[in-house]
Amino acid sequence: MDGSELLRARYGIDIPGAEVPDAIAPLLDRRVTRRYTEQPIPDSLLDALLAAAQSAPVKSDLQQYSVVVMRDKPRIKQIADWIGTMDWIATAPVFLVWCGDMRRGQRLCDIHNMPHANNNLDTFLNTAVDCSLAMGQFMAAAEAVGLGSCPISYVRSHIERVSPLLGLPAGVYPVAGLSIGWPQFRRPVAMRLPPSVVIHRERYDDSQMPEQVAAYDERRRARDPVAASGLKNNDVYPQRDGVGWSENAARQLSVPERFGFAAYLKTKGFDLA
Ligand SMILES: Cc1cc2nc3c(=O)[nH]c(=O)nc-3n(C[C@H](O)[C@H](O)[C@H](O)COP(=O)(O)O)c2cc1C
Repeated sequence: MDGSELLRARYGIDIPGAEVPDAIAPLLDRRVTRRYTEQPIPDSLLDALLAAAQSAPVKSDLQQYSVVVMRDKPRIKQIADWIGTMDWIATAPVFLVWCGDMRRGQRLCDIHNMPHANNNLDTFLNTAVDCSLAMGQFMAAAEAVGLGSCPISYVRSHIERVSPLLGLPAGVYPVAGLSIGWPQFRRPVAMRLPPSVVIHRERYDDSQMPEQVAAYDERRRARDPVAASGLKNNDVYPQRDGVGWSENAARQLSVPERFGFAAYLKTKGFDLA
């Protein structure tokens, strides 16, 4: 596919004037992979991908995240079983759990006989950002060698069980899981909101958002209607045909998700103030 075809696949519209250099074309073509072959991932390759992840930028060079590598099939299946609706996770030869980590900084202060005076919301955000950038870079590196992956926020829905399974101490919490493996097949590219909705020039301006999102809903509906199985919160709202992306987003966002997360973080020593 050339650059304009990649842009059309990503947005469902032409993006006049955009030119896609060959070097970034693979980034436009990425998508998650939710089923894997039995082919293993050698440690030598995994270690290189993790080095690519660790090459991501880190706030103040503090490096406030950790990654737990899981290769033990029954333990990966245990997480898939707890989640219950994503059995394909068990087909992954490797499962990573990306964690925000305030603990290491606290220990460094201890080692150097200083107080840790940054147990606050800013540090929580920094740990999550460091972790997410590293995970993103890992995913791009994995995709570059033909591996597929899928982030799994659902590890946070079962945090009380996942956290002890991994032995996560106070100050360390999972941001997301990441299943990895050689793809059984490649899913279609998911269409994104148009740049006019997401990219603001000089000043934030969402005055045209409702009309632009309505047009996006139409484009998505034409390419890939939301299947009944993909509708969010079917127990709260009627299951019906023709629901668009934005309505489905509203169906999801109108019901509290992981309501107890802040309370959980407090039990793990995060102040969040
Ligand atoms: C932080 C994060 C958490 C996610 N959690 C899940 C998950 O628990 N289960 C899942 O199937 N997909 C999960 N995804 C994948 C998204 O559903 C997917 O990226 C999105 O539908 C767009 O598809 P694409 O990545 O192929 O473009 C997650 C993605 C991110 C970034």
